[in-house]
Amino acid sequence: MDNISVDHLTGIKHLTREDIEIIFKTADSFKQVINRPIKKVPSLRDITIANLFFENSTRTRLSFELAEKRLSADVVNFSAASSSVKKGETLVDTVNNILSMKVDMVVMRHPNPGAAKFLSERIDAAVINAGDGTHEHPTQALLDCYSIREKFGSVEGKKVVIVGDILHSRVALSNIYALQKLGAEVMVCGPTTLIPKYIHELGVKVEHNLMKALNWCDVANMLRIQLERQDIQYFPSLREYSMLYGLNKEILDNLDKEIVVMHPGPINRGVEITSDVADSKQSIILNQVENGVAVRMAVIYLLASKIERH
Ligand code: CP
Repeated sequence: MDNISVDHLTGIKHLTREDIEIIFKTADSFKQVINRPIKKVPSLRDITIANLFFENSTRTRLSFELAEKRLSADVVNFSAASSSVKKGETLVDTVNNILSMKVDMVVMRHPNPGAAKFLSERIDAAVINAGDGTHEHPTQALLDCYSIREKFGSVEGKKVVIVGDILHSRVALSNIYALQKLGAEVMVCGPTTLIPKYIHELGVKVEHNLMKALNWCDVANMLRIQLERQDIQYFPSLREYSMLYGLNKEILDNLDKEIVVMHPGPINRGVEITSDVADSKQSIILNQVENGVAVRMAVIYLLASKIERH
């Protein structure tokens, strides 16, 4: 069986194009499974996975848990809010205690950039990054690119604009890496204060005018303003942001061509995107969520086939 070149999924940066294509081919099979009346395969009956969430999540956490259960893995869930982390225990001690209960794989969301890589170098289990601060969210980028591939047949040559709070977004960085590895052209669009100064070094186009960006692209990925990560005020008000960078139906209907609209969620309806756009036929937001389960099944399955069972 073809397998990916890494033992952990800590970031898209560490994957090759071939790795991503193997994940997509594997996800194609799992997508068929989750659309059958019996949505389960016995592949990982001998595997135990711990989902460690040190930050809030709805989609990613549920999607990983469903993916693990569809593969018949045993699953334990850990939430920092109700754990002994609050009593001063370190990350490595917490995880090693969990691993001593014979856990084979760890899925972790953590507020610190680099936390998943740090952990992968210190513990005896496969690690999947479910979002590490403002750094990477690799499975989100994989499901986003998988959804573009599903819509267009290929990601190669597509023009994708990522709109909004690029500065605080792990989704943006992982998407830039994944889209470029798959041969897409990438643009970022937003106010100057929310575009990192080094962004040119990643080989992306920068556009501050939303209409120009939307008329350039095939796909617009609308990001949420991450108020919880903003230590200072980056724009005067949400109302002004929405007027300049929000996507509404009137804008969508007046573009030169029909574009596809994506959003990683959670959506702030009426800020970065209006309800009539989010729910329009051009939106593939719910396809992204559905594809997330198949893509995460693929990542877990491929990494599990490389590990020694405990
Ligand atoms: N897209 C995403 O990461 O959503 P959650 O924060 O709900 O997991």
